[in-house]
Amino acid sequence: MVSTNQAIAPEPSAPTQIMLQVSDLNVYYGESHILRTVDLSVPIGQMVCLIGRNGVGKTTLLKTIMGLLKPRTGTISLAGESITEKSPDRRAKLGIGYVPQGREIIPRLTVKENLLLGLEARRDRTRNQEIPEEIFTLFPVLKSMLSRMGGDLSGGQQQQLAIARALMGKPRLLVLDEPTEGIQPSIILEIEAAVRRIVESTGISVLLVEQHLHFVRQADRYYAMQKGGIVASGATSELSNEVIQRFLAV
Ligand SMILES: Nc1ncnc2c1ncn2[C@@H]1O[C@H](COP(=O)(O)OP(=O)(O)OP(=O)(O)O)[C@@H](O)[C@H]1O
Ligand SMILES: [Mg+2]
Repeated sequence: MVSTNQAIAPEPSAPTQIMLQVSDLNVYYGESHILRTVDLSVPIGQMVCLIGRNGVGKTTLLKTIMGLLKPRTGTISLAGESITEKSPDRRAKLGIGYVPQGREIIPRLTVKENLLLGLEARRDRTRNQEIPEEIFTLFPVLKSMLSRMGGDLSGGQQQQLAIARALMGKPRLLVLDEPTEGIQPSIILEIEAAVRRIVESTGISVLLVEQHLHFVRQADRYYAMQKGGIVASGATSELSNEVIQRFLAV
């Protein structure tokens, strides 16, 4: 992988071809069995999309990967290192950037302050408070809005800010939960182009939950979830109409 985007490119990873490996994961909310023996992997430098209808467990899986939920069984590893027992904060420092469903930018901080919060996740503890130009190449709209309050941005702009903030932490793996939910179509196209560009120009790996077929097709591979289990997977170039109709709300 040629890295052309030094300021936000991740540090080199351990010698494994797999960025994220999830094995035999079972997760409960109380006595409700939500995730059922889930196996999933994200190869280094690839974009993987998790699809499935409402309420099947997609967000639950991402929260478990982030350490916000504790699995009853199973293991999670990042670039060959087990993170199953690590706190959410450690996982962020080890290189997972997470953009939760609903974004969660801070409305009463400016765009610039929101972006600088992303530095917290950096392992190299940089003192440099500059925002790399690559962030504005990916999301040009943010440049003219640095001193605006986060809460004054449109939904699409807030989503771009949330992704940009995650990139400020120099992640090795970017985890995005429905980044286009409730966003107007023209902005969806901008966001999906930016995510694809992140994968191609930085080598960052991406795990994405998404419902828009056009965006799903930007991914290299997909996993389809039903009732908390993975029921289909493969290359997105081979996504059949049957899979699309069963697992996407199109
Ligand atoms: N905090 C919680 N306590 C109990 N059950 C929950 C909780 N959060 C989610 N659930 C249940 O777990 C199941 C999976 O929810 P999850 O949010 O993971 O689904 P999802 O696939 O992300 O759905 P969506 O497409 O609507 O975002 C659902 O049945 C949901 O009702
Ligand atoms: Mg969800």
